Amino acid sequence: MTGAGSGIGRAIAEAFAREGARVIVHDVKPEAAALAEALGGVFLHADLANPEAVRALAQRALEAAGGCVDILVNNAGFQHVSPVEDFPEDVWQRMIQVMLTAPFQLIKYLVPAMKQRRWGRVINISSVHGLVASPYKSAYISAKHGLIGLTRTVALEVADFGITVNAICPAYVRTPLVEAQIADQARVHGIPESEVIARIMLAPAAVKRLIEPEEVAAFAVYLASDKAAVITGAAHVLDLGWTAR
Ligand SMILES: NC(=O)c1ccc[n+]([C@@H]2O[C@H](COP(=O)([O-])OP(=O)(O)OC[C@H]3O[C@@H](n4cnc5c(N)ncnc54)[C@H](O)[C@@H]3O)[C@@H](O)[C@H]2O)c1
Repeated sequence: MTGAGSGIGRAIAEAFAREGARVIVHDVKPEAAALAEALGGVFLHADLANPEAVRALAQRALEAAGGCVDILVNNAGFQHVSPVEDFPEDVWQRMIQVMLTAPFQLIKYLVPAMKQRRWGRVINISSVHGLVASPYKSAYISAKHGLIGLTRTVALEVADFGITVNAICPAYVRTPLVEAQIADQARVHGIPESEVIARIMLAPAAVKRLIEPEEVAAFAVYLASDKAAVITGAAHVLDLGWTAR
C-alpha cells in the first residue's frame, strides 16, 4: 500500500486492516510508522522518486509479507499545477517516476509471487484525470492516463493466474493533496481561493460535493474481494458524474 500515510491511502490501509489484512504501510513520510503500528502492520519507508529505492522497497515488502504480497495498491502521488511552458522538467520527471514508473516497478517485482500462488490483486489509484484532462496539470494527467494503460495491459497478461488489475479513478477527494492545490488553482485561474472548490473542482460534477477517502477505500476493498474476480483491466470512475457529460 504505497503513500499510505495520508488521505486516500490511509483510508484504504485502515479499511483493509478492518477486513483482517496485515497491511504494509509504505510512505516517504516517517510519521506513517505510527499508522502501521496502530493497524498492527509493518511500516516501510521509501522515496518512490528514486527507482533504486523502489526496487529495494519491493524486496523488503516481499520479505515482510513472507514471500508474497497478495494485494498491491499503487496509491502514492502528488500534484503540481502550472502552465506547460512554465512546467519545470525535473518536476515532470519526478511525477512520472512516482505515479507511473514506480507502479510499473512494483508490479514487475511483486506479480511473480502472486502468479505462483495463483491469486492476487493490483489496484492502481489513477484519477478522473486518467480519462479526461483539465488545464495546467500536464504531468499529473499524463501519468494518470499512462497508469490506466499499464492497468489494462498487465490485466491481460496475468488473468490466467487468478490476478485482477484495476484502476480507480476518483474526482476530487477531501485530502491534503486537494487542500494543497487550492492556492495554486486560484493563481492560475485568477479567482479567489474561496471559490476554487465550487468553480473549478466541482464545476464538471453532477453531485456537488467532495468525495470522502472512505468512499474510495470501500470500493478498493470490494475490488480485492473474491466477489470481484471477474472485474479486471478496467478504469472505475468514482467521479460524481463528471464523465457522464
Ligand atoms: N485527492 C483527490 O482528489 C484525488 C483524486 C483522484 C486521484 N487521487 C490520487 O490518489 C492518490 C492519493 O492522493 P491523496 O489525495 O490521498 O494525497 P495525499 O497527499 O493525502 O497522500 C499522498 C501520499 O503519497 C505520499 N507520497 C508522495 N510522494 C511520494 C514519494 N515520492 N514517495 C513515497 N510516497 C510519496 C505522500 O507522502 C502522501 O502520504 C494519489 O495518487 C492521487 O493522485 C487523488
